[in-house]
Amino acid sequence: MKKILVTGGAGYIGSHTVLALLEKGHEVIIVDNFSNSNPESIRRVEKISGKKVKLYTCDCCNLDEFATVFKENKLDAVIHFAGLKAVGESVSIPLKYYQNNLISTLNLLELMKQYHVYNLAFSSSATVYGEPKSVPIFEDFDLHVSNPYGRTKLMIEDILRDFSKVNPQFNIALLRYFNPIGAHASGLIGEDPNGIPNNLVPYITQVAVGKLKELGVFGNDYPTPDGTCIRDYIHVCDLAEGHVCALDKLFTNCGLVTYNLGTGNGYSVLEVLRAMEKAVGKPIPYAFKPRREGDIPACFASPEKAYKEIGFKAKYSIDDMARDAWNWQKNNPQGYAK
Ligand code: NAD
Ligand code: WQD
Repeated sequence: MKKILVTGGAGYIGSHTVLALLEKGHEVIIVDNFSNSNPESIRRVEKISGKKVKLYTCDCCNLDEFATVFKENKLDAVIHFAGLKAVGESVSIPLKYYQNNLISTLNLLELMKQYHVYNLAFSSSATVYGEPKSVPIFEDFDLHVSNPYGRTKLMIEDILRDFSKVNPQFNIALLRYFNPIGAHASGLIGEDPNGIPNNLVPYITQVAVGKLKELGVFGNDYPTPDGTCIRDYIHVCDLAEGHVCALDKLFTNCGLVTYNLGTGNGYSVLEVLRAMEKAVGKPIPYAFKPRREGDIPACFASPEKAYKEIGFKAKYSIDDMARDAWNWQKNNPQGYAK
């Protein structure tokens, strides 16, 4: 049993990962400022697991407050989810993104060093690959970013690579997530975006539940079999397991490692829509719209390195993801807000 600090643990991926950690017998401490989440997610994780989580309502950008967490707990590792993640918003308010995502991480590194906590898993993103030269995408592909959100992820990766060179006692996993969707099978925790969703699956589930009129499919003239973009959708519970595997690796004293967390399968927007229609049991209205700026035709992972080195393999299918996304939405039409 290890004591794990999870920053951003009330959020979408964080809450599912906290549950996976508790189920493995770890002790979890969450730091979250609830800028994009609701404490209800933590209560529900406690309900599902029958275990308690220690919570600090704290902004990781506030060094003094954040330091309290390290003073009061002898930690074995940190999983750092805290960050802002909306690509479009990052273009409108870039400074907020640079400030929040970078300062929170710099503070975390200072504190980890000061309190001798040497194991860190960082939430990076497939966005760091930009438009890849080919698919599947391998971890050693060139990195390019095209928006402030993506730049914060690449900057943090660069900071961690520099930091690791001169702090060899640190073990750091850069985890590049592909497209997490779905929810825990209980239907008690899931993705609860603020306002109109930017991402495909929450948009579809909100159309299905009657909150939005129709899905706009961004572009049907891409060089893909049905003309719509292809992505590597991964069940959020698989992604959560990926963190458990990555933590085990950190405890082997691995230094800095980088893994894709994806399934290796690509599905088009229309294929996802069909899977969702099957789960919901009725047609979902949609209309083709112009391409969305910044979208790339196809993006999916090679999951081989994560399988070979940390034994991670996604097990849920696109139909499982659709079923669980819908189960969450229909049981919680207003998300956590009731
Ligand atoms: P989320 O917004 O649901 O969770 C992030 C959590 O961090 C929220 O609970 C938020 O309140 C908290 N937070 C933000 N800034 C904070 C701060 N300064 N101090 C304390 N708490 C803070 O997002 P998510 O989808 O769970 O994503 C988690 C991480 O994974 C993020 O870093 C995101 O960039 C990354 N990621 C997400 C995706 C995705 O598609 N969801 C893909 C790749 C990478
Ligand atoms: C998926 C596909 C859209 C909405 C984003 C971030 C990425 C990562 C994951 C954090 C695309 C199409 C979408 C809609 C649509 N996040 N779409 N209508 O863009 O692959 O990745 O989330 O790191 O950085 O960019 O995900 O869910 O927004 O879009 O047709 O209303 O669905 O064009 O092809 P994306 P997404």
